[in-house]
Amino acid sequence: MKKILYATSEAVPFIKTGGLADVAGALPKCFDKRYFDVRVVLPKYECIAQKWKDQMKYITNFYMEMGAQSCYVGIFYMEFQGIKFYFIDNEYYFSGPTPYSSAPWDLEKFAFFSRAVLSILPVIGFRPDIIHCHDWQTGLVPVYLNDKFQGGEFFRGIKTIMTIHNLKFQGVWDVPTIKSITGLSDYYFVPDKLEAYKDANFLKGGLVFADAITTVSNTYAEEIKTPFYGEGLDGLMCARAHDLRGIVNGIDYDIFNPETDPDIPFNYNATTFRKEKVKNKVALQKELGLEQDPKCMMIGIVSRLTDQKGFDLIAYVMDELCQDNVQIVVLGTGEERYENMFRHFDWKYNNKVSANIYYSEPMSHKIYAACDAFLMPSLFEPCGLSQLMSLRYGTVPIVRETGGLKDTVEPYNEYECTGTGFSFRNYNAHEMLNVIRNAERIYYDRKREWNKIVDRGMARDFSWNNSAAQYEELYNWLIG
Ligand code: ADP
Ligand code: GLC
Repeated sequence: MKKILYATSEAVPFIKTGGLADVAGALPKCFDKRYFDVRVVLPKYECIAQKWKDQMKYITNFYMEMGAQSCYVGIFYMEFQGIKFYFIDNEYYFSGPTPYSSAPWDLEKFAFFSRAVLSILPVIGFRPDIIHCHDWQTGLVPVYLNDKFQGGEFFRGIKTIMTIHNLKFQGVWDVPTIKSITGLSDYYFVPDKLEAYKDANFLKGGLVFADAITTVSNTYAEEIKTPFYGEGLDGLMCARAHDLRGIVNGIDYDIFNPETDPDIPFNYNATTFRKEKVKNKVALQKELGLEQDPKCMMIGIVSRLTDQKGFDLIAYVMDELCQDNVQIVVLGTGEERYENMFRHFDWKYNNKVSANIYYSEPMSHKIYAACDAFLMPSLFEPCGLSQLMSLRYGTVPIVRETGGLKDTVEPYNEYECTGTGFSFRNYNAHEMLNVIRNAERIYYDRKREWNKIVDRGMARDFSWNNSAAQYEELYNWLIG
């Protein structure tokens, strides 16, 4: 039996701010249980919903040395859908209304978490063959493993994988502060280890010390070796190119299934969507106070509102777009300037634009089900899950050709009758608008063709099956 431990700062259904939670919640379930024992460890945040906290069982606690401090580490446990989850408890670090706040507090919090991930292993009696780390929050796990923990017999030979979900976030602060927070020696604070551009960098530490590196699509794996997408670490990505591979994300086909989804008013599948899907649109128009017109093309956006997602392009041509016969439904939270931009257009084009500036899982499902098209013009996109959810719900993605968007959306070819969505290449607002207008033309003038695009999209398999097999292969190769 191969033992794998996922170390992550979020996982569905317990805590989610973005796609990382979807991945860390769904992927562990997808391995063959005869050969793999995959468990997950995450922080026991105060903001985890009470119904989950009530189901966790307290196991034990101990004190852990961390720099000059001795820190409390509580361990809670719960099994969910056949997966063993461990929660690290420390009310000092994991209180507050959200999992993340700001540096350097977050760095201290996740340095503690990373060290605790290793410290609990002898206590819970689980010696993983591989610790699979996700994003900068767990970047110090491979570093600590290389440091003190390698001294003990228990830890010797444990391998690590660092998966990059988003290279933009690296966990960076000045060296003296990080040295005292982490308790790591001078040895680590040099440019070929944790140091990057004079600061200490958690993700870099993980990328240097991990045995293997993955990211969430092939195209992003290539892109991050270039200065534009490399976020200052392209040199390191090139240097470790042999240990870096892209494995595209999937989505949880049980949760995202238009045929059984309890959050949408009218269920449908790949055969019934022609009649049934539109009923979801009318229901949503009613709910959101948009003009009730089953024929009007509805374009959806469900997203963190950050510059990664291409909202500058949308802001630039929104007035022009709103002259067309379309409705635009937005669900998202994030940077104030984008929240206000969408509020403004909601006010200006009240019966055409609906800005929903909040977070709601059920509302996101309603939008995936109701819309005709889904807009995701990202500046960069490691993988992107929203376009996969859209494809699954028969909603045609309109995307920029970057990262996972390029790998998962095949552009429509009118002459060959192929493709599952619409895409454009350059980060240019009018290029985007032209592609949206091309989609409008197909939608209004060639509805049968449009429905065939939907057919092809719904027929694609973006469940975890293929990608989990690739992770299995990587685990087998690493363990040998
Ligand atoms: P990222 O991880 O960069 O935010 P992804 O496309 O990988 O982007 O994943 C985003 C996930 O978060 C999807 O599951 C999407 O439906 C969800 N999501 C984003 N914003 C909201 C929101 N306001 N309400 C509900 N779900 C949201
Ligand atoms: C990150 C990326 C997103 C990806 C997700 C899960 O949040 O921004 O593209 O889908 O992680 O891997």
